[in-house]
Amino acid sequence: MSKKNDDNRYSNWIQNCWHHFCLRPKENSSEYSHSTTIDNNHKNTRFVSQAGKEIVTRESNFDGLLHDPVEENITSILHVNENFISSKDYTELMRITSPFHITVETLAHLMTTMEKHCQMGLEPNTKSSSDLKMLPTYVTNLPTRKEQGDILALDLGGTNFRTLLVKLHPNNEPQVISEAHIVPDSKKLLANDLFEFIVDVLKQFMIRNQLDLEQEYVLGFTFSFACEQIALNKGKFLTPSKGWVLSDLIGQDVVQVLQRIIYQKQLKVKITALINDTVGTLMACAYHENTCRVGVILGTGTNACYFEDINKIHTISDRAVLPTEATEMIINTEWGALGEGGCLDMLITNFDREIDRISNNPGIHIFEKLISGMYMGRLAAEVLASLINQGIILKTQRDHKQSYRYYGPFHALYMLQTSHISEIELDTGHTISNNPGIHIFEKLISGMYMGRLAAEVLASLINQGIILKTQRDHKQSYRYYGPFHALYMLQTSHISEIELDTGHTFANTRNVLKKLGLDYATNTDCAIISYTCRLISRRAAMLTAAAIAVLMKRLHENKQVAMKKICIGIDGSLYRFHPRFNMVIQRHLKILAPVLLNYELRISADGSGIGAAICAITANDARQALRKGEIQKSSFYQQHNRIP
Ligand code: GLC
Repeated sequence: MSKKNDDNRYSNWIQNCWHHFCLRPKENSSEYSHSTTIDNNHKNTRFVSQAGKEIVTRESNFDGLLHDPVEENITSILHVNENFISSKDYTELMRITSPFHITVETLAHLMTTMEKHCQMGLEPNTKSSSDLKMLPTYVTNLPTRKEQGDILALDLGGTNFRTLLVKLHPNNEPQVISEAHIVPDSKKLLANDLFEFIVDVLKQFMIRNQLDLEQEYVLGFTFSFACEQIALNKGKFLTPSKGWVLSDLIGQDVVQVLQRIIYQKQLKVKITALINDTVGTLMACAYHENTCRVGVILGTGTNACYFEDINKIHTISDRAVLPTEATEMIINTEWGALGEGGCLDMLITNFDREIDRISNNPGIHIFEKLISGMYMGRLAAEVLASLINQGIILKTQRDHKQSYRYYGPFHALYMLQTSHISEIELDTGHTISNNPGIHIFEKLISGMYMGRLAAEVLASLINQGIILKTQRDHKQSYRYYGPFHALYMLQTSHISEIELDTGHTFANTRNVLKKLGLDYATNTDCAIISYTCRLISRRAAMLTAAAIAVLMKRLHENKQVAMKKICIGIDGSLYRFHPRFNMVIQRHLKILAPVLLNYELRISADGSGIGAAICAITANDARQALRKGEIQKSSFYQQHNRIP
């Protein structure tokens, strides 16, 4: 098959996958395992085989690198086909993008910082100064595979909201019926509206699946936000993220609020477990692989949880609800919040600052904004906009009239005349003249240029949100016009598509640009765009590897839970669909993970559903057994080897 067809084939396939994952309801989750969501012809492409299947065992002669020529020399994509980049543009490109290059030393520094925050988050007196919330989850054991029942689950907080019916049978594969629904943005504001909406959807789901509404059901609720739990079925909502607001829920017990609405709507459904999506991922992975001790989400947001030695968690508010035999508990790290106190400042570029500033939660979840799918497309757009602005890419697209200078408050500013600013002196900025390189001294001084020069600087101040804040609403920003506008439609899924190109025809990159309405990209443009996307996603994957390595180190050092091999369950659209994310994580884990610990990264399909169901049914069984007084608390836990 020709290279071009090959690129196109990947491109169509990745689009289908993405679309399937994000938008299409899934009917049956045996169908939801990774390989069955994709076209059978492509089951064995490098893309699928890369994601989480490699079992890593270090050998003594390990050289620290997996082989991928472009990955090892990321700038080589700029030289394939001898794409012509002038040395001036090349230097400027390197200057603009250099902050995205991070070294292993930086990662090691990040690890030390994160380790410190982990430790502080587990101590009551240092907890409030830690960026990491390190939340106890009240899940203290792995699944036994003896769990059984038909359990409902709700999965809320990612790209979609899902309703699920999970059928667990001892020692058999779980059967899952699930539907995905889009949550309208208007429902992301108030929990009351949101929960009414999801309970209505749940009721319709139960009716469609012929569940008897008179019968009692147990429900596990995966709520992918930070919640401070005091029991498995009690959790105070702490911080909204990923574009959600839910201002009326902050400080409230999520289970209580949702349960009230469920009963108001006359459903006999009892919420017995509230879990984070990372916990669901870990539990679902552990259902198949009992060495699983870490759960990671790399999707719209990012976060991880891991099993901690219970004696090292000094923030458990109520030990009485724990079984006496419990030795470990899953901790939800909320690692997305790392950096809120400034510890990542050495990594933060001006582009990251802009992403944070225009987000609906500035200053919050800094680490998440460097990594996750909600921000990656936008971050690439910021960098590419700057490359357009410097005249490095899309030169043919960007005619004068398409420049952001002609819109909104920028447009107004560009009417500024020298007469308006005679009292202001400016000596920097870049002017658009019809004689570049000529009459430089005149341009620094004379009336023809001075107004324009001031406008340049002021536009940059508007852009940084320093002046005319009230004038500049979102829609008035230059981002919404011309080629800039096109670029700001860039999604993380497009980045995955662009990165499938090997740099010969750039078929995918061209395809993405075309979809955005940018038809005139040269090979050089494509090479630079591809390079930029790679740099940004590589940085994200490197940071993820360092963060995973910190948790592995903790597990390895914990005497209570020391193991020779651990499995890390991972889920989320970024991890599943980005072609190189897994590989970059693996490469860097080989350098950063504890030397004597073998590990495996696994996709944990449908964690949020299966994990929630496992926790919910176990908690329910424990409740019922204790209520009947048939067994003592500890003997129940011994029999089931777990707790509610
Ligand atoms: C955000 C939430 C966290 C969740 C993650 C992934 O970071 O705070 O709880 O696990 O997104 O969905």
